[in-house]
Amino acid sequence: MPNSTASFSGGRLADRVAVITGGAGGMGRAASLLFAREGAKVAILDIQPGAGRETVAEIEAAGGVAIFIETDVTKVAAVTAAVEQVNATFGGIDTLFSHAGTLIVKPLHETTDADYDRLMDINVRTSFNICRAVIPQMVSNGGGSIVITSSIGGEKGFALESVYCMTKGAVLQLARSIAVEYRDAGIRCNAVCPGFVKTAHGLTEIEQLDGLGQKWNDADLAAVQGRICEPEEVANAALFLASKEASFVNGTALYVDNGWYAKG
Ligand SMILES: NC(=O)c1ccc[n+]([C@@H]2O[C@H](COP(=O)([O-])OP(=O)(O)OC[C@H]3O[C@@H](n4cnc5c(N)ncnc54)[C@H](O)[C@@H]3O)[C@@H](O)[C@H]2O)c1
Repeated sequence: MPNSTASFSGGRLADRVAVITGGAGGMGRAASLLFAREGAKVAILDIQPGAGRETVAEIEAAGGVAIFIETDVTKVAAVTAAVEQVNATFGGIDTLFSHAGTLIVKPLHETTDADYDRLMDINVRTSFNICRAVIPQMVSNGGGSIVITSSIGGEKGFALESVYCMTKGAVLQLARSIAVEYRDAGIRCNAVCPGFVKTAHGLTEIEQLDGLGQKWNDADLAAVQGRICEPEEVANAALFLASKEASFVNGTALYVDNGWYAKG
């Protein structure tokens, strides 16, 4: 057995208890590995048990501490139970990366009520559920840090992604509003807003947009953001926001897009 968390005690998240929703895949997985490497005890809440357990095994093999709790974060009862399990295992939660999400690529006029409900549930209700569940203990314990995954589509408009962009705008506003509402309770809340990232989500998005007539080959990606973003690059941005280094950063949207948003 690799021994202990001792070697991580000086990390940027030393002694922290972090919950990561969607922490078994893509950027969430990269953040699970990175946050654990920086000393946090990490609880991964995700619907993919195989990938979740594999991520925990990788963290433990490197000497970190993590648990996987199979949780559909759209469900309040499951979130409540998961938070109780994290508290019983690790103690009070002081760090949250609310990352779980998905997308639907479709013309707005073909989008069904079921599509709308599903995307709102997975992209918005998950953040509402997990933030509402952890904020009371952060308040009682003197504060905490929350990072929510929005997107460049949280503020820019994109064809074929209207409902997706609505959901990402909603969680960006959630992040800003939590920052304002709970600042004096010691809670910081920020959003990461990535461009295209090399994850199952990002690659499916490109394939589906291509299938509907948009072109997102390497040259098109290079024109807007230089190249595709690696999941670790977003995890590093989330780490910064979660860490004490960002102690005066609150309510911000951190674009991880190599200048795409700035270019307009
Ligand atoms: N990849 C991109 O290009 C990109 C760009 C901007 C924003 N995003 C955002 O990133 C998130 C997608 O993550 P990714 O790109 O790392 O891809 P991903 O699909 O690999 O990861 C998403 C993770 O969320 C989990 N998840 C989905 N529904 C869940 C639920 N109900 N409960 C718990 N876990 C659930 C999945 O199992 C998966 O592990 C979304 O919020 C998306 O809006 C992605």
